[in-house]
Amino acid sequence: MEKFVIRGGKPLHGTVNISGAKNAAVALVAATILCDEPCILENVPEISDITKCLKILKEMGAHIELLDRHTIKIDTKGITNPVVPYELARTMRASCYFLGTLLGRFHEAYVPMPGGCDLGDRPIDQHLKAFRCLGATDDIVNGNNHVRADSLDGNQIYFDFVTVGATMNAIFAAVKANSLTIIENAAKEPHIVDLANFLNSMGADIRGAGTDVIKIRGVDYLHGVTYATIPDQIEAGTYMVAAAATGGDVTICNVIPKHLESITAKLRKCGVHVEESDESVRVWVDGPILKTSLKTMPHPGFPTDMQPQFSTLLTMAEGTSIVTDDIFDNRFRYVGELRRMGADISVDGKVAVIQGVGKLHGAPVSATDLRAGAAMVIAGLAADGTTEVDNIVYIERGYEKIDEKFRGLGADIKRVYCPDSDAVAMSG
Ligand code: EPZ
Repeated sequence: MEKFVIRGGKPLHGTVNISGAKNAAVALVAATILCDEPCILENVPEISDITKCLKILKEMGAHIELLDRHTIKIDTKGITNPVVPYELARTMRASCYFLGTLLGRFHEAYVPMPGGCDLGDRPIDQHLKAFRCLGATDDIVNGNNHVRADSLDGNQIYFDFVTVGATMNAIFAAVKANSLTIIENAAKEPHIVDLANFLNSMGADIRGAGTDVIKIRGVDYLHGVTYATIPDQIEAGTYMVAAAATGGDVTICNVIPKHLESITAKLRKCGVHVEESDESVRVWVDGPILKTSLKTMPHPGFPTDMQPQFSTLLTMAEGTSIVTDDIFDNRFRYVGELRRMGADISVDGKVAVIQGVGKLHGAPVSATDLRAGAAMVIAGLAADGTTEVDNIVYIERGYEKIDEKFRGLGADIKRVYCPDSDAVAMSG
């Protein structure tokens, strides 16, 4: 396996380009199963979760053509059997999107119980609720979720709580169902809107994406399109926090500032300067990082996927900060790794109390999941001395060339091969 070796304490300076959004791209790739013609996806991030999704489609019979590093032509006409390869799909949360897309096309699907970053229990009861509302039945067959329907009939779906994945899957299953489906209490993330725009450009009839009520009138045919994925709001937020944590001055390019509003607001509250332009944000610091309280919420609230990174910044703030993350059962597994670097954090359930310590000190640490891994990199960049981050296979699931991009901002970060460790990363 590989690790990052970081010599910290150098303020980041310069510009960095943000890649396509992981949590949009995995949904768009799965959505090509519903399309009756070949599609071309642009601005696709070069990350291992996408590589894995494409490998699954190819093993199922799709034709995949890489037109360049970020542009992919996908023709799923060759898929005839709604069974997803077990070993490939079981480590990735996004594999549950094959349930909705295969059900939408074949009225049946066999998909391994999904994996994903270990953030606690991650059931799919709301996904199955949506499928049942449309007339499907479900059971477990050899470790696979099995769903099937004689026909998919539009209906009202009311989610018990906001869930990104179940909203995605409800859209997938409804887009070719008979008549009208109304999804209530829908997730409003930018990647939900991106999926709706992608499917509508193929000829689907989806209205209200980005609000908590989405109306879908089923159609029979979806024609091929060329479509560009939105920029990754979480990758952008990660570089914004890294700029603040290192006391640097960084311009983050190829972003949609509106998608970053909650992160920008929180950074400004901590005394960080953020200047917005049409497609970029500039982040710089000219004073201490101030303490704050933070609670993660579904969009447009502060994203849970930014919690580990922001909590790392708060370990360097003046005073005591409170971070509450009740989106997942346990998204503080990284805290033990930050303590190795001198952080003073106590966790009680879904609440972390962070006493600012001013400066962290380099140490060997592990990435415990995708975003926690990014937080370890930020901690190493800000700390004095040398930090080694292992299990970087987690980080590579969701960040394109993160070491190269940070080196472009003046960071001293090297990728080193270490033959003895053998982490198998689950990714969210
Ligand atoms: C998506 O996960 C993202 N993953 C996650 O990003 C992100 O943290 C999450 O949405 C919230 O924004 C992808 O898009 C591939 P949820 P998902 O359904 O769909 C519970 C990253 O770092 N729940 O909104 O799994 C669930 O356990 C990853 O990029 C149920 O109980 O998130 C969680 O506690 C990590 N039953 C909460 O709801 C269900 O049927 C929110 O889950 C569905 C969800």
